[in-house]
Amino acid sequence: MRIGILTGGGDCPGLNAAIRAVVKRGTSKHGVSIVGFHNGWQGVIDGDAVPLTREEVSGILVEGGTMLGTARCHPHKVEGGIDAVIETAQNENLDALICIGGDGTLRAASKVHKAGVPVIGIPKTIDNDVVGTDSSIGFDTAVSIATEAIDRLHSTAESHNRVMVVELMGRHCGWIAVTAGIAGGADIILAPEQPFDLDEIAKRLKHRHRYRNFSIVAVAEGAMPTAGSSWQPTETLDARGNPIAGQIGAQLTRAIEESTGFSARLTVLGYTQRGGVPTAADRLLATRFGVAAIDAAVEGNTGMFTALRGEHVEMLPFSDMAGKTKYVSPELLETATVL
Ligand code: F6P
Repeated sequence: MRIGILTGGGDCPGLNAAIRAVVKRGTSKHGVSIVGFHNGWQGVIDGDAVPLTREEVSGILVEGGTMLGTARCHPHKVEGGIDAVIETAQNENLDALICIGGDGTLRAASKVHKAGVPVIGIPKTIDNDVVGTDSSIGFDTAVSIATEAIDRLHSTAESHNRVMVVELMGRHCGWIAVTAGIAGGADIILAPEQPFDLDEIAKRLKHRHRYRNFSIVAVAEGAMPTAGSSWQPTETLDARGNPIAGQIGAQLTRAIEESTGFSARLTVLGYTQRGGVPTAADRLLATRFGVAAIDAAVEGNTGMFTALRGEHVEMLPFSDMAGKTKYVSPELLETATVL
């Protein structure tokens, strides 16, 4: 048997741990050959493949990024892309292809599977927005990094009597801002799921500064004010409609200074949330997903993705996640506002 593997979309810590698990379990337990594709779906389109052995994946468990490289490439959006993927699968004699990716890569995986190449998905995204799984590879590490940043901002905020705004990743979902904000004790947490009102924020900050001399505001890059509110930021979206990193943070920081009179500063964590060593939880999740994916590939259980459901890893059909987004729950949003 011959199984392909790729990592697509934005990178995150834990991708190498998943690759390692697939290769080690696949070669030792099942005796299959594993072939890696460089740079996500682009590598499959180009036939850019490399054999992966136990020796090659030895030592990568703790390494951030992906040894295979990644790209935001979706074969169904490239002319002739799906046909090229089918051709590569035939040339490489693939029995199945394991795709490690976020919603975009997994949507492509579903389309490739429907076109006749057996595919299995492994969800990874620091955004944690893949439906069906309690968590995705990379999320725990991103939350740890963001929490540490918020912890560190406390002492400098207090020393300077400042409002510290920290902008965190999350275009459509505020999982990082909400969870790291709660864990780090941010005073105000703003997520795309819950539009905010600047006057209300200013009121809360002024109230807090009667008894404390500093505040921390955690804002997701995709957070926006309510449509009718008087303060609106300008040009926060790029040509594709995605938030431009740093925009909401910068404009909100200025607006807070103007409306409260307090000194305010911005920290944009940006790609630090996606870099470096994965946490123990991400290494564990990636390893469990890798094992489940290669086992499913060998059993011919394709058209599925790995999902953490409570204590168990299960295989779910692509149709369970396609076109859906896992938003932060109302319960968690409520928790973020009451402390
Ligand atoms: O999807 C993961 C993510 O890190 C988002 O949180 C962020 O908005 C986006 O990727 C950044 O994308 P890019 O790597 O294309 O700049």
